[in-house]
Amino acid sequence: MKNIVILISGRGSNLQALLDAGLPCRIAAVISNRADAGGLKIAQAHGIPTAVIEHRDYADRDSFDAALARLIDTFHPDFVILAGFMRILTAGFVTRYRGRLVNIHPSLLPAYGGLHTHARALQDGVRIHGCTVHFVTADLDHGPIIIQAAVPVLCDDTEQTLAARVLHEEHRIYPQAIRWLCADLIELRDDGRVRLRHHKQSGFALISPSLE
Ligand code: GRF
Repeated sequence: MKNIVILISGRGSNLQALLDAGLPCRIAAVISNRADAGGLKIAQAHGIPTAVIEHRDYADRDSFDAALARLIDTFHPDFVILAGFMRILTAGFVTRYRGRLVNIHPSLLPAYGGLHTHARALQDGVRIHGCTVHFVTADLDHGPIIIQAAVPVLCDDTEQTLAARVLHEEHRIYPQAIRWLCADLIELRDDGRVRLRHHKQSGFALISPSLE
C-alpha cells in the first residue's frame, strides 16, 4: 500500500474529501506551515499524525523547503499531496519530488494560475471555470495536468457562489487523482504530459449558457 503525506495551510476541506473517500493508501502525516490551520484538527480527529513547520521561523525559502523536505522524508512517502498548501516551493524542493508531488488548483489551468482565480474569472466574463489536479513543477501552476473539472459560470454568480461550485468539484476530482496515482495508473511521460491507463473517456460538452 502506498504512503502519502498531505501538506495544508488552511481549513482542509480537500483533506476532508480525501479522508472521506477511503483511499487505498496510508496517510502517514498531515503537515501544515501554520499552527492555526483548521485541517490539523480534521487530521487529528482521524488519528493521523500531524506536524507544524512554520515558514516564519526560517530566514528564506531555501532553508524552509530544506527543513520541510527533511520532515516529509521521515514519513517515507510515495507521494506528497498539496491540499491548500499556500507556499511557493523552490525548484530544489520540486525537483526532489518530481513525479511524486501533486497539487489542486481552483481554475482550469493554464488559465488563472496564482491567486484570486474566481474573482479574475468573473472579471473576465468567462462562461466556464473549474479546477485542476496537476503535478508540481518549478513553473508555478503549470505542471502536467492529471484531471480537470469544468463548471458553468452563472450570470448572478459572486466570487463566493462560484468558489463553492468549483470546490464541490475539487472534492470529487482530487480523490480520483490520488486513487489513480496509488494504483500506478498515471504515467508522467518524458515530454511532460500525463498518460492515464484504463480511464473512461467522456464525450460530453459543457456549453454555458446552455443551448436553447
Ligand atoms: C482550494 O480551493 C484549493 O484548490 C486551493 O486552496 C484551497 C484549499 O481549500 N489550492 P481547503 O483548505 O482544501 O478547504
